Amino acid sequence: MPSLSVFGAQWGDEGKGKLIDLLSGSEADVVVRYQGGANAGHTVVVGAEKYVLHLIPSGILHPEKLNVIGNGVAVDPFKFLEEVEGLRARGVAVDGTNLRLSANAHVIFEHHRRLDQLSEKWRGEGRIGTTGRGIGPCYADKAARTGLRVGDLLDPEHCRVRLKAALAEKNALFEHVHHEAPLELETQLDRYVALGHRLEPFVGDTGAQVRAAYRAKKRILFEGAQGAMLDIDAGTYPFVTSSNTGTNGISAGASFPPRWIDRAIGIAKAYATRVGEGPFPTELENEIGARIREQGNEYGSTTGRPRRCGWLDAVALRYALEISGADGWVVTNLDVLTGLDTIQAAVGYRAGGREVRDWPGGMADFDALEPVYKSHPGWTEDITRVRRFADLPKSARAYVEWLEHEVGVPIVMLSVGPEREQVIPRGKFLSLAQVMSRGTGA
Ligand code: GDP
Ligand code: IMO
Ligand code: MG
Repeated sequence: MPSLSVFGAQWGDEGKGKLIDLLSGSEADVVVRYQGGANAGHTVVVGAEKYVLHLIPSGILHPEKLNVIGNGVAVDPFKFLEEVEGLRARGVAVDGTNLRLSANAHVIFEHHRRLDQLSEKWRGEGRIGTTGRGIGPCYADKAARTGLRVGDLLDPEHCRVRLKAALAEKNALFEHVHHEAPLELETQLDRYVALGHRLEPFVGDTGAQVRAAYRAKKRILFEGAQGAMLDIDAGTYPFVTSSNTGTNGISAGASFPPRWIDRAIGIAKAYATRVGEGPFPTELENEIGARIREQGNEYGSTTGRPRRCGWLDAVALRYALEISGADGWVVTNLDVLTGLDTIQAAVGYRAGGREVRDWPGGMADFDALEPVYKSHPGWTEDITRVRRFADLPKSARAYVEWLEHEVGVPIVMLSVGPEREQVIPRGKFLSLAQVMSRGTGA
């Protein structure tokens, strides 16, 4: 059986957690995170219980499934252990048998979190609005080859040598550039070696484990974090995160051959949101945006910040789905649009006196993009209990069919509420299993 990439196709928070939880129940044996870190906040609602997962894959609520944090994830050991303990306290079984952590994943240290916040201050008006979780500085150290990996924490003497070198440079920055107190080597070392000891039962060669699972015909689900427009290469640079967020990140971040990635599914809301700074051509800084925020409860799962809300951007979405090679996509939060007289979606942009229909990838300043919209009539009926496409109001069906046509990739499922069962399978694909086994157009 195949492997499936499930990724965010907008600016994050598309409902990946809900979909991954749903799919891991019926259509996966292994769920793998391959990039990002605890900047992610993936919400899973099960009855009256709500779980927000940051580092641990969203398959963890299903016993018997293997959950893997791959080498491409930036791991804050505090956050990892806090999440493990939080889940255990709520009765979820988590141990080294159902949760594995790559020895090659880079570690987020206190100095990374501090630098994340200090760099934001120095950026001033140009700040990114990061989650402050140390993601950027950790990945920067990975690329600069000054980082430490999870495996390094398990060898105290080796850890001392590496951390000493790393802290010497960081402390020079803290003291002489930022005018802050330095961090003390022994304190940091004691703390992180102790954390390493607690991580040990989870640590291993996850790449080898996932490849072996694939060879053994297990079903592998790759859980993307963030979204395509936050991708460090494909997104609205520099207002992005520091990793490759889609199918493009899997191979390096999970040590999994690209040719073994069989299918890809993008997730997008029926509108768009963005947290933090940066270009967002379809943003609605008006009553409609505020209404979407309230109706969709659009407040960050990680930082609690209000999300910026706007219309769906079909141009950016088409681009996002193409980069990750999507066979299909899922529309979430369709219910949030209920009650709007008119729904709009961007089908092009005006920039520099010209109209473009495709994402202007080479552009330096995406702020200059002015969307060209298409309008659709809205609906007023409550759709949260609808489970069949044919039972949706006519204009909701028309909006979805139009979206599918405009974006040019089949919509395989709709989501009409946060709970597991609030989904509507679409079209000729009765289930995602069919997408996985037959591909598109079958
Ligand atoms: P993720 O980061 O992509 O996993 O998404 P988040 O969990 O950060 O944000 C999605 C939010 O929307 C969460 O609060 C979900 O519970 C909620 N959600 C998911 N699907 C739906 C849906 O179809 N309708 C509504 N109203 N909420 C949804
Ligand atoms: P999930 O997985 C939405 C945003 C931050 C900021 C930028 C860089 O829940 O979809 P970082 O801390 O990564 O250096 O911040 O990226 N961001 C997210 N926005 N959802 C996320 O994750 C995000 N992770 C990072 O707000 O604009
Ligand atoms: Mg989120």
